[in-house]
Amino acid sequence: MNQRIIAIDGPAGSGKSTVARLVANQLGWSFLDTGAMYRAVTAEVLRRGIDVHDDVAVASLASSVVIVTTPRVSVDGRDVGDELRTETVNVAVSIVAANAAVRRAMVARQREIAAAQPLGTVVEGRDIATVVFPHATLKVFLTASLEERATRRDEEGTESIERRDRADSLRRASPLRQADDAVVLDTTGRDVQEVVNEIVQCLKSQDSA
Ligand code: DC
Repeated sequence: MNQRIIAIDGPAGSGKSTVARLVANQLGWSFLDTGAMYRAVTAEVLRRGIDVHDDVAVASLASSVVIVTTPRVSVDGRDVGDELRTETVNVAVSIVAANAAVRRAMVARQREIAAAQPLGTVVEGRDIATVVFPHATLKVFLTASLEERATRRDEEGTESIERRDRADSLRRASPLRQADDAVVLDTTGRDVQEVVNEIVQCLKSQDSA
């Protein structure tokens, strides 16, 4: 497999989406927000009135729908972009993301999407470097203080972010974990472009090594 992947993992509000999107733009690569995929499944589960705790029904939905993430996020062609960050989705997404069968379906789709990109893909999530692309070209783990992460996600609130981080880190299926070979960057108080440049520089130095 010679696809080029930059894997960016980290907790909620660590700056993953913003940074990953800008790195992708700078390199002319594609960008994949895997959190949006778990959110899209969750939005569809809620819309269909399926119990989020019904693992079998949720997994069956996740493996039967077609999720597209660009230019807009859709499920079976229905645009769900406006439903992804509601409070109900914020609460239910950790339960859906802890479902191992849902994760298998999402990981397969993520690999398929990345394989179709001509140059490379910047993929952000929680398990990208550890599970989805363990052989990624570059692995980055972004962190930031809880206060700053909550400010960045001001519509969500500190308690909800803490609860989600705990659920994401303690679950059995692919918990949020820093890969041993990841470059760790603390984005607290740092300029976004500076972080982006550092990641692009890491890729370049790796390429010329
Ligand atoms: O990055 P985000 O906040 O949009 O992610 C939403 C939820 O999806 C998050 O609470 C954990 C889950 N998630 C995951 O389990 N694995 C991923 N690769 C991406 C997100």
